[in-house]
Amino acid sequence: MTPSQPIGKVLASPKVGEEVSIRGWIYRTRSSGAIVFTVIRDSTGIIQVTVKKGSLPDAELEAAKAALIESSVMVQGRLFEDKRAPGGFEIRATSFIISGGSQPFPITEYQSEELLLDNRHLWIRSREQNAVMKVKATVLEGAREWLKSADFTEVTPPILTTNACEGGVTLFKLKYFDREAFLSQSAQMYLEALIFSLDRVYSLTPSFRAEKSRTPRHLTEYWHLELEEAWTDNAGNMEIQEQLVSAMVQKVLVERKEELRLLGRDPETLKEVLPPFKRLRYAQVIEGLKGKGFEVSFGSDLGAVEERAVTADERAPVFITNFPKEVKAFYMKEDPEDPATLKCADMLAPEGYGEIIGGSERETDLAKLTARLEAQCIPLETYEWYLDLRRYGSVPHSGFGLGVERVVRWVCKLEHIRDTVPFPRTVARVYP
Ligand code: 4AD
Ligand code: MG
Repeated sequence: MTPSQPIGKVLASPKVGEEVSIRGWIYRTRSSGAIVFTVIRDSTGIIQVTVKKGSLPDAELEAAKAALIESSVMVQGRLFEDKRAPGGFEIRATSFIISGGSQPFPITEYQSEELLLDNRHLWIRSREQNAVMKVKATVLEGAREWLKSADFTEVTPPILTTNACEGGVTLFKLKYFDREAFLSQSAQMYLEALIFSLDRVYSLTPSFRAEKSRTPRHLTEYWHLELEEAWTDNAGNMEIQEQLVSAMVQKVLVERKEELRLLGRDPETLKEVLPPFKRLRYAQVIEGLKGKGFEVSFGSDLGAVEERAVTADERAPVFITNFPKEVKAFYMKEDPEDPATLKCADMLAPEGYGEIIGGSERETDLAKLTARLEAQCIPLETYEWYLDLRRYGSVPHSGFGLGVERVVRWVCKLEHIRDTVPFPRTVARVYP
């Protein structure tokens, strides 16, 4: 038997008449009399296989006729051109061995979203899910490559914590022996501690938010890429953000064009994702929104609807800086030039997708930081260790958190964030 090859490789350099061997799952099948037409898929693509009486043992023909979709198979045969076949070629089988037969597959062509979610463990075999997962892997590879080139060290912060970084409302509480602990909302405070040892750090961890709202951009468990750097102000941190996001997207453009097309995203539309990104001040955005008929004023938080209005006509991400204190977290640094506002920035993805990054310079003034914790009714005891970072050789520093699934949703042009994770966790779903 010739060693089996990935289908994508067979189709990338097809040689008519060549003996080939593949392994995969039956994607489509129909038989008429003495011929079975099947399409086989593996992780790299799909290819037509015809199984014809006389070309292989009768028992294998009978097994091929009986096999249902999603049966796993090992196929050997010769390659021929067939203009109508996906990829333009077919394998005429000389051997067709069923490895694991399949019962009638619960997912057929037109299915409700609920059924697909109930059968997520099977639906992840779909070509769309396959493509999204490949894009996601490339997004992460692009990030890690860029971060290495920029001298950031990857670190491993804890997931179990006693600190609410982003407010008590969305905390998942758990019993930690005889105490209370939380699932981490953000690694930020730990990264802030780590810069005193490593200067420039990042982490990729799950973050948890008990989000009760059902929206197309919220998960209760998501992958969070967070970065923190010493000796950098908010402006310097924004430069890091735009370079990182561009590197991630440009890597996808080079390596995942096919996947993007399969998902209905024209790769051309991502070409303009290059630094510098547009910078808007919050106050300016509020005025713009008022002009568009929104009922907002200085102090209003920007939700999905407002963010969509700001970014609908953009082709590259946009920064919004200088949010007012009342809408942001306690750790953000006051802007001395405009003390009602903060040295912070949200990065919004274009085409209406909205926030993908939240970042800021961090407040280093111990008195101001304590006052803001108190103003937000946050008990100081569990934050003593964090306040120590301001007591022992404090430095100006900045950082941010990027929602990996938010980026993938935008890059893949997906309706809903749940399709960026194989097993989505939302208020309505924690199975399978
Ligand atoms: O804006 P957030 O809440 O900022 C922080 O957590 C900071 N402590 C990060 C830091 O500075 N180290 O969250 C950061 C990003 C958001 O911009 C968004 O992309 C993503 O995390 N995010 C979510 N993604 C999916 N589902 C959710 N429920 C999310 N909540 C936030
Ligand atoms: Mg945010």
